Amino acid sequence: MDSKFQSVLEKASLQQDLSKDDIVILLEAKPGEEQQELFKLADSIRIKNHGDVVHLRGIIEFSNYCRNDCYYCGLRRSNTKIRRYRMTVQQVVNAARQAVNLGYNTIVLQSGEDPWYDVDTICQMISRIKEIKDVAVTLSIGERSKKEYLMLRQAGADRFLLKHETADEKLFMKLRPGTNFTHRLRCLKWLREAGYQVGSGNMVGLPGQSLQSLAEDILILKELDVEMAGIGPFIPHPHTPLAGVPAGDFNLVLKTLAVARILLPLAHLPATTAVGTLHPRGRQVALQCGANVIMPNVTPREFRRFYEIYPNKAGTLEDPKQSLQKITDIIKEVGRDLAKGRGDSPKFKTS
Ligand code: 5AD
Ligand code: SF4
Repeated sequence: MDSKFQSVLEKASLQQDLSKDDIVILLEAKPGEEQQELFKLADSIRIKNHGDVVHLRGIIEFSNYCRNDCYYCGLRRSNTKIRRYRMTVQQVVNAARQAVNLGYNTIVLQSGEDPWYDVDTICQMISRIKEIKDVAVTLSIGERSKKEYLMLRQAGADRFLLKHETADEKLFMKLRPGTNFTHRLRCLKWLREAGYQVGSGNMVGLPGQSLQSLAEDILILKELDVEMAGIGPFIPHPHTPLAGVPAGDFNLVLKTLAVARILLPLAHLPATTAVGTLHPRGRQVALQCGANVIMPNVTPREFRRFYEIYPNKAGTLEDPKQSLQKITDIIKEVGRDLAKGRGDSPKFKTS
C-alpha cells in the first residue's frame, strides 16, 4: 500500500477532517489492497451508524415530461423519440396504495421538471398518500420557487431530493443549458429552510469530470450536511448529445460512494439503480461499500419503460411486486434485513 494513501486512510478512520487533496488520494485507491481497505472502512462506518438493515424507498415516476435539456438525460425536452406520459393524481395515489400494501414506508414522487403539475396538484398527491398511512413522502421534482417548496412541505412532504449533479460549475453549465449551479444551491438552501430532510448527489463519469471535482462533490454534500446522497454512474443514452461517451467507471463509483460514507457517516446512501444497471451485481457491491438504502421502482408497469433516463435501466420490465422480490433477494444475498419504520434521518426524530 502506498504510504501516502495509508496515512490518509488512517486519518479517515480516526474521523479527522479530510482536505480536498486527501479525498483525491482516497479516490485514487488502486485495485487490490488499497480499494479493499477503503471499502472495508466505509462498510464499518455504515455498520456502526446504520446497522445491518437496508431501507427501502418506493419510487413512483409520475411524469417523464421535462422542460430542461440536460445533455446526459433521456428525458431531455429535445428527445422526440421518447413517448411522454403524465399520471393523474388518482393513478399516483393508486400506485402509492399498492406500494404501502407491499410494505413500503417511504414513497418517492419523482418526475422530470414538469410545470404542468401546479403546486396544488402535487399537494393533493401528498395529502392523499398521507391519508392511506403515515408513510414518509419524498419529492424529486426539480427546481421550484421557495414558496412552492414551503407549500409542499406544509402539505406533508417530508423529504426532498435535488442532486447538485456535478460540483464543476463549468461542466454544470455546459451539460445543463439554461440552468445554473448557483441557483441549484439556492434551491437546496430553500429546501433546508423549509424543514425538509434534504438529499443531493452527483453523477460519476461525466465527460471532462476530474477527481478534483469529484472530491468537491463530496465536500459539497458534507457542507450541505445532507440527510441523503445519491451517487451513481453516468450511463450514456443513445438519443442524447452524450451518446458516444463511455459510462462511468464502476470502481470509481464505488470509491466515491465509500468516501462519501466516510465523510457523511449519518447520511442515507442508496445503492442506486444506475449502479445496478452498470454492473449485474452493482447494488450488492455498493451495499458493501457504504450504501444502506435501495429505491425500488413502484411505477405501474405500463409507464415504466418510458421513464428512460438512461437505457436498460434495471427493473424496467418488472411490476412493483417483482421489483420488491428482486430487491429483497439482493438484500438477503448480502446478509442484511429489511429495515422497519420510515427510516427518517437519525438527525430528524419524526418517528
Ligand atoms: N446516467 C445516469 N444518471 C442520469 N441521470 C440523468 N441522466 C443520467 C444518465 N445518463 C440522473 C441525474 C438526475 C436523475 C434524473 O437521473 O442524476 O438527477
Ligand atoms: Fe430533466 Fe432531470 Fe433529465 Fe435534466 S436530468 S433533463 S432536469 S429529468
